[in-house]
Amino acid sequence: MNNPIEAVRLADPYPGYAELVAERPFAFDPAVGAWVAADAAAVRAVLGSAALRVRPVADPVPAGIVGTAAGDVFGDLVRMTDGGLQQRLKGVVAAALSSADTAYAARLAAEQTRAALKDGGEVPFEELMFAVPARVVAALCGLDADGSAEAARLTGDFVQCIPALATPEQQRVAALAAAGLRTLLGPGIDRPDPAGNGLLAALVRAARDAAWSRTAPLLANAVGFLSQTYDATAGLIGNTLLAQARGEELPKTPAATEAFVQEVSRHDAPIQNTRRFAAEPFRHGTAEVAPGEQVLVLLAAANRDPAVNPDPHTFRTDRTAPVVFTFGAAAHRCPGQRLAVSVAGAVTETLLDCGVDPAGLLSQTGSVTYRPLANARIPVL
Ligand code: HEM
Repeated sequence: MNNPIEAVRLADPYPGYAELVAERPFAFDPAVGAWVAADAAAVRAVLGSAALRVRPVADPVPAGIVGTAAGDVFGDLVRMTDGGLQQRLKGVVAAALSSADTAYAARLAAEQTRAALKDGGEVPFEELMFAVPARVVAALCGLDADGSAEAARLTGDFVQCIPALATPEQQRVAALAAAGLRTLLGPGIDRPDPAGNGLLAALVRAARDAAWSRTAPLLANAVGFLSQTYDATAGLIGNTLLAQARGEELPKTPAATEAFVQEVSRHDAPIQNTRRFAAEPFRHGTAEVAPGEQVLVLLAAANRDPAVNPDPHTFRTDRTAPVVFTFGAAAHRCPGQRLAVSVAGAVTETLLDCGVDPAGLLSQTGSVTYRPLANARIPVL
């Protein structure tokens, strides 16, 4: 494989990943300027190590957004911080998300999908992949229809500051968006409905139960609910539609749809990689990562490691206990998986019910292009 970052948007990155898993499961790649973890053992070890952090020690927040609303939000996200305090806040965030009513989220996603199709004409795939999941999560946070639509739009702007190569203009727009998102979500944190069953009321209750008193990190992580949903769920919906276009039949029951979407998340991961930064020396086998060095963690490659998933290249919805790294592992494991799978399942199922045939999504040569992103695999539909 030439460059595992470019792999994210190749039509078929999987033979290259398989080569890495077999031949260089954990090695330094000068082209990337980082260690690359490809097999399941290396990915597990890297994600489980306290020596490896989610941000460079000297650069906890990207320089271009320090001192802005985007920087304040970024610096308080459990996703972007490590250590004991992060784990306490993670407990609060995970408790809130575990209380999410996924059946209600699926109903909202189905309604939104029908509404997006109601005028007929071209199927608005962009809206279905990005805006619908974000609007659903915003609605779970207690926003009304207009507020949810505005939150979805602002989330699209906010996530632009997350890639390492964000431009100053993207960072400026993201800072405005972060401020807008805090204004929309702030009342739900400051004055939660005590009997409320939404995500923000659950977040505030979980914080109280954990004796967590600072509200700014709660608000930042409420913004995080939206930003973590955005690209990743778009990729999951897009890749589920493509699996159908390639001939996999979407089953009719909700449980079978869920198994289908879970297998898509393993077989064609919407988040293909993540990164870690060594704060202390890290050893794996004979390799030693020095402080200051980076590790590119190939989640999508490890999903297809035959050591953990037999016959890994075959799409099979009847796997018993598949090992899936798409949602991370260990301290930073994604607490939004259940929600993402329900929403993606509801959107794709509703499209089928409304007569949209994914077969037409592939060009005559069967190819598809992907957005030029460094870690999310999102088809342009
Ligand atoms: C297909 C959809 C999704 C995928 C593939 C995904 C994937 C991931 C991955 C890989 C991580 C860990 C990153 C790392 O360790 O470097 C993560 C963390 C996280 N995700 Fe998701 N995610 C998805 C949807 C969601 C949704 C819908 C939510 C919430 C509404 C969410 C909330 C979070 C949070 C809060 C974290 C940070 C956890 C921590 O750092 O401790 N995710 N996600």
